[in-house]
Amino acid sequence: PIALSAGCAAVQSNPGQSNPAQPSPVGASSRPLPIPPLATATVDAAGARHFTLSAGTGSTEILAGKSTATWGFNGSMLGPTIRARRGDAIAFTIDNGLPEATTVHWHGMHVPARFDGGPHQTIEPGARWEPAWTVNQPGATLWYHPHPHGSTEKHVYRGLAGLFLVDDDVTDAVNLPKTYGVDDIPLIIQDKRFTPDGALDESDPTDIGLLGDTIVTNGIAGAHLPVRTERVRLRILNGSSGRMYNLGFSDDREFHLVASDGGLLAAPVPLTRVRLSPGERAEIVVAMDGSNALLRAHAFEDDAGLDRGDAASFGVRDSFGILELRPGANPDPSAALPATLATIARLDPESAATQRSFELQWFMINGAQMDMNRIDFSPGVDTTEVWTVRNIDDWPHNFHVHDVQFQIVDIDGSPPPAELAGWKDTVYTPPGVRFRLALRFTEYTDPTVPYMYHCHLLLHEDQGMMGQFLVLEPGQQPAPMAMTMPTNHG
Ligand code: C2O
Ligand code: CU
Repeated sequence: PIALSAGCAAVQSNPGQSNPAQPSPVGASSRPLPIPPLATATVDAAGARHFTLSAGTGSTEILAGKSTATWGFNGSMLGPTIRARRGDAIAFTIDNGLPEATTVHWHGMHVPARFDGGPHQTIEPGARWEPAWTVNQPGATLWYHPHPHGSTEKHVYRGLAGLFLVDDDVTDAVNLPKTYGVDDIPLIIQDKRFTPDGALDESDPTDIGLLGDTIVTNGIAGAHLPVRTERVRLRILNGSSGRMYNLGFSDDREFHLVASDGGLLAAPVPLTRVRLSPGERAEIVVAMDGSNALLRAHAFEDDAGLDRGDAASFGVRDSFGILELRPGANPDPSAALPATLATIARLDPESAATQRSFELQWFMINGAQMDMNRIDFSPGVDTTEVWTVRNIDDWPHNFHVHDVQFQIVDIDGSPPPAELAGWKDTVYTPPGVRFRLALRFTEYTDPTVPYMYHCHLLLHEDQGMMGQFLVLEPGQQPAPMAMTMPTNHG
């Protein structure tokens, strides 16, 4: 069933948990996976590609036959997939039709700080925001979502999120499935809870936030994917508030990881499981063998240092179906997987100008909560830094950095496994494990507007597990603009 099987007892034991099991994703009543439409762009006189997004309220049939009040971009839930090429000048007109202030953050995008869409770029109800920049990073599966300080979890949970695909010459040339919606499938995985009348249940968050018992893929529960080709590429986003997924197929078939957060890996990595914490992406290619293949979240093989008494309430022992791939007869041929994908220039940790360390504990980073008026540090442009990140709690966190894609130098002193050796912007940080990250800050400097780094478990982020940095030119002094905290809380 789609309702979480193995671990759901723990979830359902939470007071306030009232919803019954939801129908199976693989039953006769299941619906085909909706594919978010590609956003259309107009080209302005200066040659910039111009997109329009409008955040608003609506209602969505997330559960078959029930109507749920939701928020979305250009529709009732989620948003169109934005697609742009490296080198494109792009511009957005973003209108806020919500009853409260929001922001739109380009997760994973290298973008000037004033257009980053973090908590400093608030769009009041009825107001418009018009960011513009030139795309300059490798092809990748990125995403966009609200980031208003203190309300991010609620805004994302209600449905505001979309994918942002970047293409470049390398992703064009590589022989992977690439027909959007046909053999190159966006897959936004979220977990939700419903009240008996079908409303989104926002009550009773666990220590890692809202943990749902119903899996919603691209905005509906109970989806399946008809597959017409021999292989299919899934661009998977964990768009959940706090849930971590240990993804694999129910028959344990091998698949290949071809890209992580910031773009293609050096070569396809054969795996039977891939872990995604909130905000992370994985692009996988899976071969069909004529029978249905059920993508599942599996219980984590280990509790990864999580306090044993609490591990169940973090969802890591849950096991449940997510999406059934249903091959048709006479599939169209797909090319064999290429042996290599992309060249990833390694950042040199020995050349780091600065080392910093970050301890994640109890809604704080290095013992401090987010203060919109505190700049925590200021890297210099065109320098490499090495950051040591350690979760010293006995519950899960992850770590996300704006503006850059980073590389994992080592994990507890050992080189990262192949699936974590590519570009990342978010990394799952289980308790006690020490990650060293190499980051290089380039191109955009601004003494007035900071970028964020934070835990991407959205409750933790909202609670202030976040800090701010400026990227400065040599000799430049920080001159942050004073901010008033937004008032969306509650
Ligand atoms: Cu996906 Cu600071 O966010
Ligand atoms: Cu956290």
